[in-house]
Amino acid sequence: MEQFRKQARLPKFAVPNRYDIRLKPDLSACTFGGSVSILLHIVADTRFIVLNAADLSIDSGSVSFTPQNSSKALQPSKVELVEEDEILVLEFLETLPMGMGVLAILFEGILNDKMKGFYRSTFEDNGVKKNMAVTQFEPADARRCFPCWDEPACKAKFKITLDVPSNLVALSNMPIMEEKVDGHLKTVSYQESPIMSTYLVAVVVGLFDYLEDHTSDGIKVRVYCQVGKASQGKFALYVAVKTLELYKEYFAVPYSLPKLDMIAIPDFAAGAMENYGLVTYRETALLYDEQHSAAANKQRVATVVAHELAHQWFGNLVTMEWWTHLWLNEGFATWVSYLATDSLFPEWKIWTQFLDECTEGLRLDGLAESHPIEVEINHAGEIDEIFDAISYIKGASLIRMLQSYLGAEPFQRSLASYIKKYACSNAKTEDLWSALEEGSGEPVNKLMNSWTKQQGYPVVSVKVKDQKLEFDQSRFLSSGAQGDGQWIVPITLCCGSYDAHKNFLLQKETELFDIKEFLGYPIAEDKSSWIKLNVDQTGFYRVKYDEELAARLRYAIQMKCISATDRFGILDDSFALCMARQLSLTSLLTLMSAYREEEEYTVLSNLMTISRKVARVAADASPELLDYIKQSFINLFQHTAEKLGWDPKQGESHLNAMLRGEILTALAVFGHDSTINEATRRFHSFLDDRSTTLLPPDIRKTAYVAVMQNVSSSNRLGYESLLRVYRETDQSQEKARILSSLASSHDTSVILEALNFLLSSEVRSQDAVFGLSVSVEGRETAWMWLKDNWDHISKTWGSGFLITHFVSQIVSPFASFEKAMEIQEFFASRTTPSVARTLKQSLERVNINAKWAQSIKNENELADTVKELAIIKL
Ligand code: BES
Ligand code: ZN
Repeated sequence: MEQFRKQARLPKFAVPNRYDIRLKPDLSACTFGGSVSILLHIVADTRFIVLNAADLSIDSGSVSFTPQNSSKALQPSKVELVEEDEILVLEFLETLPMGMGVLAILFEGILNDKMKGFYRSTFEDNGVKKNMAVTQFEPADARRCFPCWDEPACKAKFKITLDVPSNLVALSNMPIMEEKVDGHLKTVSYQESPIMSTYLVAVVVGLFDYLEDHTSDGIKVRVYCQVGKASQGKFALYVAVKTLELYKEYFAVPYSLPKLDMIAIPDFAAGAMENYGLVTYRETALLYDEQHSAAANKQRVATVVAHELAHQWFGNLVTMEWWTHLWLNEGFATWVSYLATDSLFPEWKIWTQFLDECTEGLRLDGLAESHPIEVEINHAGEIDEIFDAISYIKGASLIRMLQSYLGAEPFQRSLASYIKKYACSNAKTEDLWSALEEGSGEPVNKLMNSWTKQQGYPVVSVKVKDQKLEFDQSRFLSSGAQGDGQWIVPITLCCGSYDAHKNFLLQKETELFDIKEFLGYPIAEDKSSWIKLNVDQTGFYRVKYDEELAARLRYAIQMKCISATDRFGILDDSFALCMARQLSLTSLLTLMSAYREEEEYTVLSNLMTISRKVARVAADASPELLDYIKQSFINLFQHTAEKLGWDPKQGESHLNAMLRGEILTALAVFGHDSTINEATRRFHSFLDDRSTTLLPPDIRKTAYVAVMQNVSSSNRLGYESLLRVYRETDQSQEKARILSSLASSHDTSVILEALNFLLSSEVRSQDAVFGLSVSVEGRETAWMWLKDNWDHISKTWGSGFLITHFVSQIVSPFASFEKAMEIQEFFASRTTPSVARTLKQSLERVNINAKWAQSIKNENELADTVKELAIIKL
């Protein structure tokens, strides 16, 4: 028995083939009973059957194994559930005969409130609070619902039967085969599924309305929502039908099930989950309400739907062999979701917006405490943590880099053959590379291994000297430290025009490039001859230009010679280098002022993010300059804000609608009085009449944040009004918007109240993390609050990944070494595996901020530059 403990994976002497599962949830007692018969293949001599189970009570007497061709059921001599290892060990007196057989087990469990396994979610039915039952199994919680081989490579067929109240909707992966009503109860049995992994099995039982449509080849698609909200599912339904059709073309394989249901769940830990044929969502990621949803909400719905449907092929049909290859699933689905969204809504310029995501990946991977894309997983508890920006965003960025290197056509062709080859089976990262290598003739394996097996990414420094460019790569670290590593970097560059374009692989640490040879003529040695690397920002690396080249690029930006993606890249790299103390804040601010006439949504959005971060560090580094810095940012954004105005323009673009809210919010946060006043005026009209046209959804957050700027302990009216709106709305996006604004006040007692509100029964536990973005003034209050409430917080959120937000959002904003020490001491006795990595990363960020702040203090020219920028108006 001991030999099965503390193992990363189950022993494989028995392999499941087909599960027959029956579940009977009791929604008022919050329990369930179940039975499972598993058709097994015994492939090696053994007296043991070892499978996963957790939080279940197993009826030991019910356990039996019946070898095929035998009428005699064997009973195990010992049945042991080892909770720590989440395994069920069945020991038999005699060696089991090789070949097929059926394992039968009866069990019971609890419909928990932890949003994983088989859990309960609540909703209101005519003012009465009721329960529904929902499953969430990824990564390793199917074992909390039924005993099983809970590993992605143990694929089997599933035949599910549910015993539920007859008035409820009961859904599972497959269409209903038969439904038998017997008074208040009904027995619903579903068709047998194709072979699939346990983490994709799903069941939902509750009260819902739905909308229905079908694809051109007859796949029935439904969106299920809370009763009365069906019309809000219309947009997601449209996206789903279009996306299924698109993926069928792209992957050259049709969707493999007869139906697809998508359903909004009121309590849901992640954003959405790709269960085969029954995709579950948070309400905010599925519902679109004409009245109350913002353009950003609409975009979120489209990208989440496109992401989950991508998994129906990439993940569900072809599944990762083990969690080490999780990034294949998530990185790929993220990349494809942009492809699909771009095809449906080209005017959203979603690939430009992708850069906003990409920078998150670069930020995390710029930490010493990052991890390689492929991580060894030794225990189920470690899997949750790798659902992070490395797997998703670095993963997606590498796919993008590779696709752009290989070309769209060979990439798609090879991908389709990969899907065909591994359909209904499992694959590893190398299998994808081999398919791409075969299809393109390029050395994909060698190229990509340097990116997936080592952590981090390079910064490519480039210097110009005598008509030559000198390239030099080293690992980029946000701390400014020297890192190890070497990559095969697909370099792209343009000289003076987007027509003069060159690609090559940088394989060594340093390399020289002859510009004259490339262009056929010498490059002018003046401002007009800019050189941009990483053209279109398709590479996952940063570029550091020498002063000469940086000045030429700045000039080219002002002359409007540089594309939006490249403007984004130049800004983003400069900011990262500034934080790593390789570029002064003075230079960064000077560069930022070259973006005064910027109009592109994604570039402006990043400019605002960077401005907020600069203002935050300035509060520590040079508080005496803070007002000037804020004023310089107001100057930077005011012009665009005025052009956009407050009211939506007839037929305006999606991007302008998103931009308006973001830019006005930024102005409010920087203390721009007339923005705050106008927002407050509109908020009051909204309080009087929730359907006023003065406060459309795109600018509601602006109004909420603006109102909070003037709230204090002696003037709490704005805060109370916001809470009233929160209580009166049943729209989840509206609630999220309010929660994310509540702690933006400058008054610490109000902030404390806002934080305490997050722990109240009025906030669903899935939503509390929205309320953790606290103003600079509130940092210390938030930290004390976290300490005071840690026991409760870790009890409530500690078993999932939401707890990491509490740590990262409250810890990361600090900027002092002493604080880092204090935080480390507090957690010394409190770290659990689920927050360990996040804590280390957050502490590293605090130390980086501290060093950054220190170096800013020593910048002599900063004061003059900032004061100058504060008076310049466009
Ligand atoms: N497979 C994930 C859901 C998931 C996340 C399960 C974490 C277990 C742990 C799903 O496909 C997903 O990636 N959802 C994202 C949304 C997506 C659009 C990036 C999420 O939940 O945030
Ligand atoms: Zn995913």
